[in-house]
Amino acid sequence: MVVIGGSSGIGLACVQSAHGAGASVVIAGRSAEKLSQARQRIGEDVTTASVDVAKESEVSALFGEIPRVDHLIVTAAETVSASIAEAEEREVRSTIDIRLWGGFRAAKYAAPRMDGGSITFVSGTSSQRPYEGSAFVSASCGAIEAFSRALALELAPTRVNVIQAGIIDTPLLDDFYGEKREKVVRELANTLPAGRIGRPEDIADAAMFLMRNGFVTGTVLTIDGGKLLA
Ligand SMILES: NC(=O)c1ccc[n+]([C@@H]2O[C@H](COP(=O)([O-])OP(=O)(O)OC[C@H]3O[C@@H](n4cnc5c(N)ncnc54)[C@H](OP(=O)(O)O)[C@@H]3O)[C@@H](O)[C@H]2O)c1
Repeated sequence: MVVIGGSSGIGLACVQSAHGAGASVVIAGRSAEKLSQARQRIGEDVTTASVDVAKESEVSALFGEIPRVDHLIVTAAETVSASIAEAEEREVRSTIDIRLWGGFRAAKYAAPRMDGGSITFVSGTSSQRPYEGSAFVSASCGAIEAFSRALALELAPTRVNVIQAGIIDTPLLDDFYGEKREKVVRELANTLPAGRIGRPEDIADAAMFLMRNGFVTGTVLTIDGGKLLA
């Protein structure tokens, strides 16, 4: 199993669950330090690879080293919020580039090494319920959802699904909310039917389901504590 983005947050929780269930896991991400910390946390038998999904040559080299892939999870993303009045194309392009084109690169080079199994991407509820400044984030999430439905046909019998996540307690929230994090999280939790924000393990549970259930493909699975209803 390969998890691109497996060195932190949701990806790391997916690695932990799959490793706990006996999978042999390759974790990919850019930062060597984060990869090494993840390996220390999960176990020495985990393989790590320094890969930037923005770079085709690095993604191709990653899968060139792996003869067989049973499951692929891609959580890598960049989320730059900006109004279109303020956005400079060069600053917001990465939001689309990493999630959609990174997903494309991962699927393109993993698929020839897969025979069945599954690919799981991660999007967010902003594809359906945008917030101010989310135009590019929402577009990237909507794009990977549409992309994966088409891939589910193209790559069958390999199954392709997306987890559409609500607000999840990961290091991403530090970047997003900065020092207001705790206050914002408390307020957000109070608006959700679940009464709390998500834990990375909530998404890892869904990822395990999507890997195990051979009848689920072309699906966008919302795991959001009821955010879309709130
Ligand atoms: N947390 C939330 O509330 C939330 C809500 C909705 C959707 N999501 C989505 O869930 C996914 C995972 O988010 P998270 O909260 O787990 O974030 P996170 O804790 O920041 O983890 C992101 C992971 O992706 C890797 N990554 C980032 N850019 C990469 C690149 N160019 N190439 C390879 N790896 C890269 C990071 O490692 P390096 O930085 O070392 O590369 C890290 O391992 C994202 O797609 C995010 O948009 C999260």
